[in-house]
Amino acid sequence: MENDGKDKNYYIETYGCQMNEYDSALVKGLLEDHGYLPVARPEDADVVLVNTCSVREKAEETAIEKLRNFMGLKKHRRDMKLGVLGCMSENRKDALFQRLPKLDMIVGPDHYDRIPELLGLAGRNLALGLSERSVYEGSFAATVSGASAFVAVQRGCNFHCAYCIVPSTRGPEKSRKLADVVEEVRRLAAKGVVEVNLLGQTVNAYRSPDGSWIELLRAVAAVSGIERIRFTSPHPRYFTRRVVEEMANIPQVMPHFHLPVQSGSTELLRAMRRQYGRTHYLDTVARLREAYPDMAITTDIIAGFPGESLEDHRETLSLMEEVRFDQAFMFAYSPRPGTPSALLEETIDAAEKGRRLAEIIELQHEHTRQRLDAEVGKTVEVLLEGPSRREAREWIGKTPHFRKVILDLGEAGSVGQRVQAKVVARRGQVLWGEPLPG
Ligand code: SAH
Ligand code: SF4
Ligand code: F3S
Repeated sequence: MENDGKDKNYYIETYGCQMNEYDSALVKGLLEDHGYLPVARPEDADVVLVNTCSVREKAEETAIEKLRNFMGLKKHRRDMKLGVLGCMSENRKDALFQRLPKLDMIVGPDHYDRIPELLGLAGRNLALGLSERSVYEGSFAATVSGASAFVAVQRGCNFHCAYCIVPSTRGPEKSRKLADVVEEVRRLAAKGVVEVNLLGQTVNAYRSPDGSWIELLRAVAAVSGIERIRFTSPHPRYFTRRVVEEMANIPQVMPHFHLPVQSGSTELLRAMRRQYGRTHYLDTVARLREAYPDMAITTDIIAGFPGESLEDHRETLSLMEEVRFDQAFMFAYSPRPGTPSALLEETIDAAEKGRRLAEIIELQHEHTRQRLDAEVGKTVEVLLEGPSRREAREWIGKTPHFRKVILDLGEAGSVGQRVQAKVVARRGQVLWGEPLPG
């Protein structure tokens, strides 16, 4: 398909989570199908798109700053079109048009398939927001580079965690058809992808008319060429004993789970409306460890939610001690207008929030180092992702536990290759390995 007879260039910048990365790949595919070509610099583009995130205040500020810069490009290129995609499209639409009146369009996550059409229209301030339809139906993210790819299996979220903006930016949960997911995975495998990372806000709650979560995992595992399956983020509520046992019988499912906990205090978890308490979370971890004795576990933690007492904070630290996470994403609580907790009084000032967060980060770094040090001397399988920037002979890859390894390979490496290696050292948060013969 052509656009309007001549080649046009596009540039897209992406903020936020892997879902946004995935969606940007989807948009790239759509634009390229319509004759648009990618360029590396926004100043060379006819169309500049910013895929935004609303999850914390800072994410929104960064995006607005960026949009302001891009708006400056319009002075020299009047026909350049500037558009906002992603989570700010829904909850910040009016503010965006007000602050950036020359915006050409704002397109919410359910309408990306209409971007080429909107770009063809004259006029400014075009907007499309949330809807019940799914942009993923019958469309497949085309752009893939490397051995590993994201596949969205679920959009939106049916939970209402008190602090979280996602349900209002992405709408209620919609699982994608199992057959569509499998078709996308097949196309990826045909392009050399050996690892897929299934995406959803509560991904293990996946349920579509043509299959359950476990059926989805089995169907993806059955695609020829797919060696590794990961997913993010599961919710503790859906890791029942039966699910964990059935999952453990699918060898392609990797022994690393990203299981956001948010807090170690049952009382605070209740205030956050997380639908589980400390004991439930720890039981879930124990259940996973029973099935995967050597598993890696990572998490998300929020410091300074309204009402968090020092005792609550200590419970978060003690839960961290108990679980010993391999890694964590750690955040200071950021009130989001429109969420239930935005109505609560912020009881913890910025300095105290920062202090608690620093304590959490310090403890996590210690655990990360200890967990990585315990790997030294072990033999691991490394899936090669590409040469490291430092040295062409050095390759970067990941272990099944999602640990980053650098290997001195010589000339022989290729993306997607799996290499047996001995871990010889840790430097910072990276392991160094030596390939084993054979
Ligand atoms: N659906 C995922 C989380 C998606 S948002 C889940 O429930 O596990 C990613 C992370 O951002 C969350 O796990 C949480 O730790 C953090 N987050 C979300 N809203 C936040 C807020 N208002 N302030 C600080 N951190 C927040
Ligand atoms: Fe947000 Fe909670 Fe849904 Fe995760 S489960 S996206 S934190 S509302
Ligand atoms: Fe993701 Fe940010 Fe939206 S974390 S779902 S891009 S609010």
